[in-house]
Amino acid sequence: MLHTNIGVNAAGHLTFAGVDTLDLAARFGTPLYLLDEDRVRARAREYVETMRECMPEGSAPLYAGKALSFAGIYRVVCSEGMNIDVVSQGEIATALAAGADPARMFFHGNNKTDAEIAYAIAHRIGHFIVDGFDELYAVDRAAAEAGVVQRVLLRLTPGIDPHTFEAVNTGMDCQLGVQMDRAMEFLSEALECEHLSVVGLHCHIGSQVFDAQPFLDAADIMLSFMADALTLRGFIPEYLDLGGGFGVRYTEDDPFVDIPAEIRRIAERVREGVRARGLFEPAILLEPGRSIVADAGMTLYTVGQVKPGTDGAKNYVTVDGGMSDDPRFALYGSRYTVYPASRMDEERELVWTVAGRCCESGDVVAENVPLPSPRRGDLLAVAVTGAYNFSMASNYNRVCRPALVMLSGGEARVGVRRETPEDIMARDIVD
Ligand code: LLP
Repeated sequence: MLHTNIGVNAAGHLTFAGVDTLDLAARFGTPLYLLDEDRVRARAREYVETMRECMPEGSAPLYAGKALSFAGIYRVVCSEGMNIDVVSQGEIATALAAGADPARMFFHGNNKTDAEIAYAIAHRIGHFIVDGFDELYAVDRAAAEAGVVQRVLLRLTPGIDPHTFEAVNTGMDCQLGVQMDRAMEFLSEALECEHLSVVGLHCHIGSQVFDAQPFLDAADIMLSFMADALTLRGFIPEYLDLGGGFGVRYTEDDPFVDIPAEIRRIAERVREGVRARGLFEPAILLEPGRSIVADAGMTLYTVGQVKPGTDGAKNYVTVDGGMSDDPRFALYGSRYTVYPASRMDEERELVWTVAGRCCESGDVVAENVPLPSPRRGDLLAVAVTGAYNFSMASNYNRVCRPALVMLSGGEARVGVRRETPEDIMARDIVD
């Protein structure tokens, strides 16, 4: 199996986190997001413990909520000792509602509105990660108005190619952060801002990255900048934030990433770089999202229409969800592993395109999926959907978004209830 939380029981049914997926579908309906809470905790602990053990004091992982944001997830990751990366008023409000400590939040995002900046300052969010000059002045003004000094990190763009897919490559020429040629000017301006305290530097190279090398290259560039910043501005950062991005295994072709080993490589490289350049050692921050929640997720669908292809045409099987709960195939051509959850012991003779229910041919979940000749009512399971599925879902075609069920110690409980047509219509004004 792709991951250790996926199995098959004596009835020939797929299990997830030790629970029969047919039972879950019968109890909660489909489409259904599942989240293996114990796996999330294990992943969070892996980051927290490894960073504590091999990095300077103050180093910590920030959970990047953009991968999966709902109140319950913040309870889980905070109780494991992670801090939080938030990117909008919506994420801040969700984390606060879950009882997360605002002092442990880092406010990211490349275009924070004035209203969001004021909201975050009023709620005493610990740190801002400032994305550019305009935002720098806006945060300074808002801090002045509130009569506070806001701690900030500056986001730089080190120009690293992380060899990932274009849409999630953020280390090179893109709209995020400040390019290195203006980084010193950015720092100088920030140091002039009376109501800001510049405590760190940040970069993020991309997502779904399988190798630590691009992180090491980014760290080198950031350390060289720190050396210049010390010489030219006497600036000593408390934090060096190297962003998120470790890849996860979606299909059998993808490797496993040994996260603790990669974290140790990063720690070692920073330590050596600091020593070689005669710098003060900063605490290190990492911002994992996908690698915390992706393989803790699974989506269950029920088969509706079955359309075998004739004369070499593709075989189609349509499920009761699709791009409305997971737009990643449509957006990035992302690959997934799909299981015939109700018929795991049967021969999978042909390959099928698993399509969604929205009215366009681009609504595909996965291609070339081997399945036992499908029938209406079969249960299909898509593995590794914990990251960027729930958080990127929409109401396209006014489809209601699925419930999210959390699994722990063999028990299931609803983390987010299923959406209803009334929820969807709640903001419509009918004269
Ligand atoms: N920090 C920053 C500044 C980021 O922009 C991101 C992701 C992360 C941390 C977390 O990266 P992760 O550990 O999750 O790779 N929607 C795309 C992924 C976009 C990632 C955006 N930024 C997808 O579905 O693949």
